[in-house]
Amino acid sequence: MSDPTRLRIISLLEKDELSVNELQEVTKLGQSRISTHLGLLQESGFLQSRREGKRTFYKLNAIPSSGAGEFIRIAIKGAREMPEYNSDLANLKRIVARRREQAQVYFNQVAGRFDRSYGPGRSWQAFGNLLLRILPPITIADLGSGEGLLSELLAGRAKKVIAVDNSEKMVEFGANKARKNGLKNLEFRLGDLENPPIEPESIDLVILSQALHHAQHPSKAVESAFKILKRGGQIVILDLLQHNFETARELYGDSWLGFPESELHGWLEKAGFKKVEITVVAREDQPPYFQTVLASGVKV
Ligand SMILES: C[S@@+](CC[C@H](N)C(=O)[O-])C[C@H]1O[C@@H](n2cnc3c(N)ncnc32)[C@H](O)[C@@H]1O
Repeated sequence: MSDPTRLRIISLLEKDELSVNELQEVTKLGQSRISTHLGLLQESGFLQSRREGKRTFYKLNAIPSSGAGEFIRIAIKGAREMPEYNSDLANLKRIVARRREQAQVYFNQVAGRFDRSYGPGRSWQAFGNLLLRILPPITIADLGSGEGLLSELLAGRAKKVIAVDNSEKMVEFGANKARKNGLKNLEFRLGDLENPPIEPESIDLVILSQALHHAQHPSKAVESAFKILKRGGQIVILDLLQHNFETARELYGDSWLGFPESELHGWLEKAGFKKVEITVVAREDQPPYFQTVLASGVKV
């Protein structure tokens, strides 16, 4: 505390975490002088440091209530009486503002195309998992579940998931995988999505993900979904918007070339669903530019 430079450093680090370079810019002192004082202060337990890439940032340790804390308080008070105090404060403000601006420059530049550009750690997978966290503990029927990719994800949070598929192989494979993954609340059942082997009024959420266009009578599947839902339950359909890519029949075994929004709307209303919502949520960027439609309704 006998050195005025140390008082200035303490007073600055009390306000913000700073690197050696920043302290140098604020105080206009030489780097080696600052480093020496920082070393001494850290050795005495007044400071803590953190590395970020090539730079080290210093900040004041939380001021203890003991005698050392009293010294720090006196040092900060003393620093205020020094002739450099006002210019130190002004320089500090400028440097902190510049640091904030630098962080904003990037986001200001990418705003408007940020959602379409790469961002470290951002992915649909991550967003999907975030959304799963807010899934309440409900009973879900995944009709035309396939191997159960979606069912497995949902089973991680749901009370129970019943996955129905009419392909024996799919059901066998899915059930084995669920067992291996220890998902006791995921049950695979062999059955038709037009007449699923599920108790009436027992389900909170029915999902038909890319399954409806395989049904012989899609409207019947929507009616059956209504039957197995409890009051207040919801149906959510992900399917293809109507397209004219005929080859999908051979390539993917599709029975229908997607559906117009109006048709989905009609089936949902006819089955008794309220609050019907239909939105195109995705468009592929390669021919034949399949579009995904999301439809939902509530059994009130
Ligand atoms: C394109 S996959 C979709 C799988 C899964 N829902 C997903 O989104 O990844 C369609 C699945 O529906 C099944 N499927 C087709 N017709 C069905 C029917 N009438 N009843 C039950 N499942 C059916 C197929 O066996 C296949 O597993």
